[in-house]
Amino acid sequence: MSHQLLKGKRGIISGALDSHSIAWKVAQRCYDEGAAIVLTNAPIAMRMGEIKKLAEETRSEIIPADATSTDDLGNLFTKSQEILGGKIDFLLHSIGMSVNIRKNISYPDSNYDYFLKGIDVSALSLHKMLSTAMNLDAISEGGSVVALTYIAAQRTFPFYTDMADIKALLESITRSFGYHYGKFRKVRVNSVSQSPTKTTAGTGIKGFDDFFNYANDLSPLGNATADDCADYCVTLFSDLTRMVTMQNLYHDGGYSTTGISNEVMNKFSGN
Ligand SMILES: NC(=O)c1ccc[n+]([C@@H]2O[C@H](COP(=O)([O-])OP(=O)(O)OC[C@H]3O[C@@H](n4cnc5c(N)ncnc54)[C@H](O)[C@@H]3O)[C@@H](O)[C@H]2O)c1
Repeated sequence: MSHQLLKGKRGIISGALDSHSIAWKVAQRCYDEGAAIVLTNAPIAMRMGEIKKLAEETRSEIIPADATSTDDLGNLFTKSQEILGGKIDFLLHSIGMSVNIRKNISYPDSNYDYFLKGIDVSALSLHKMLSTAMNLDAISEGGSVVALTYIAAQRTFPFYTDMADIKALLESITRSFGYHYGKFRKVRVNSVSQSPTKTTAGTGIKGFDDFFNYANDLSPLGNATADDCADYCVTLFSDLTRMVTMQNLYHDGGYSTTGISNEVMNKFSGN
């Protein structure tokens, strides 16, 4: 059901790779809520090619950008404003990649070149996006930026390896830049800490299905889906949350504050 919460707003959505991507659902919901959007992803992801379907469905244009390249990001913000006809009201950072995870390398054995690549792609890219946007004054007064993160930034999940540290940096950047962009243009910057979600990035993590089920059993509301996450992002992009900034917001069905559940206990008591 549409409430037209984003009517008249212009947004950029990164990270829609295929129909499982969280960003894919966010793009669909933003379009339903009345926003005009531009889609962006790494040029290599375009060649894998699903995103055109989403662009047709949401009547949006695609601007390829490697989120580690400030040149690409400059082009993204400049062209997006031309296409959408004004400054950007909201931005979704939905970018994550760890070569150490991809190659199944354990945390103590982390390859440092891969580690640095993960930091650049998954965390510094948010800084680069915000810095580029600020230099171009591309985000409108009171605009909203959301980055997606995971609770491994606060608690140890061994299989999340270097991404745990990388997400901690991402969340720190939301706070640090949230201050500066808040002062500059009252732009909000928040991270949403999402439940395990069955996407390409998610299922690439060793043992994903087991911890997906564990989180689902622990959370009183169960795991939040990608569709649920899209709904939450819409509220954060809307004017209804204009005083929320520099926060890490848990969107996890209660997982982050639950110690134990009967469902998990029963697995150990044999009931
Ligand atoms: N799936 C989960 O369980 C889960 C849980 C919490 C948070 N998240 C976060 O949600 C975000 C989206 O991930 P997802 O689960 O939808 O998976 P996904 O694989 O669908 O999305 C990751 C995206 O990052 C893009 N990307 C990678 N390198 C890039 C680059 N250099 N430039 C631009 N884009 C690049 C990929 O092309 C892809 O579209 C990530 O930040 C992820 O860490 C995922």
